[in-house]
Amino acid sequence: MIDAAAFHDFEHAGWERAAEHYSDAFGALTTQVADPLLDAAGATEGTRLLDVATGPGFIAAAAAARGARVDGLDFSHAMIAEARRRHAGVTFREADAEALPFDAASFDAVVMNFGLLHLARPEAAIAEAFRVLRDGGRYAFTVWGAPDTAVGFGIVLKAVEDFGRANVPLPEGPPFFRFSESDESRRTLERAGFSEVDVRIVPLIWDLPSADGVYDALSRGGVRTAAVLRAQTPEALANIRAAIRQSAQRYRQGDRFVLPMPVVLASATKRQS
Ligand SMILES: C[S@@+](CC[C@H](N)C(=O)[O-])C[C@H]1O[C@@H](n2cnc3c(N)ncnc32)[C@H](O)[C@@H]1O
Repeated sequence: MIDAAAFHDFEHAGWERAAEHYSDAFGALTTQVADPLLDAAGATEGTRLLDVATGPGFIAAAAAARGARVDGLDFSHAMIAEARRRHAGVTFREADAEALPFDAASFDAVVMNFGLLHLARPEAAIAEAFRVLRDGGRYAFTVWGAPDTAVGFGIVLKAVEDFGRANVPLPEGPPFFRFSESDESRRTLERAGFSEVDVRIVPLIWDLPSADGVYDALSRGGVRTAAVLRAQTPEALANIRAAIRQSAQRYRQGDRFVLPMPVVLASATKRQS
């Protein structure tokens, strides 16, 4: 059974550690979905928007650039420090997605870019988004596609399965790819009371300078996969790294490594009347 508190603490410690590497590891990738995500949330001039699990504040800053009135929120002190350093004009707050420090009906839009898959209690975060939205407000989140489509994850998981141990002693969390299944995202939003649910795939591309790029990004800038890699023996880790490097060769284009990383983008409206 999942120990939600233990998993929450594990993720929290992991993000405090990963914060300084996250932008270099994932920034060029996760920011590609900023416009589709903000469009799905209806973010325009004057929209009161909350960016939950803001990390270094990429989406919050993109929304502010559209003229939205933005709050960015993250439970990691180090991430919030990073966000404040990068985006001086945006308000950032250290708080938990599962217990938002805002009154009901405070926002026109709530977004979460690659946050849901890290939560111990995703339903609690979705219920909180619903609560702080006004009637007619929009909610939008993204998660990675399943590993047979999001190649960066696929090749790392396969290498661990072939050359290491996937079942290492870590606090168990909800399945990482649960919301990659469009129907599961749709059902969960509807169960939370949302209507006009739309779920679609956005085809992102991970353009990396070396065959080691995937390993470097996930081992430094991630949490769950980084912990799985840290738990391997030195010999297994060397084999895993070599296998990832070899798989990346299939995606070589000149001197770059170009990996498909599709995203599931789900959005919905809060309707009370
Ligand atoms: C993969 S990063 C996404 C960062 C950013 N949204 C982006 O677009 O790249 C996940 C973020 O979720 C945050 N996070 C995880 N669990 C959280 C929680 N319970 N409450 C608030 N933030 C959380 C982490 O600290 C981290 O910054």
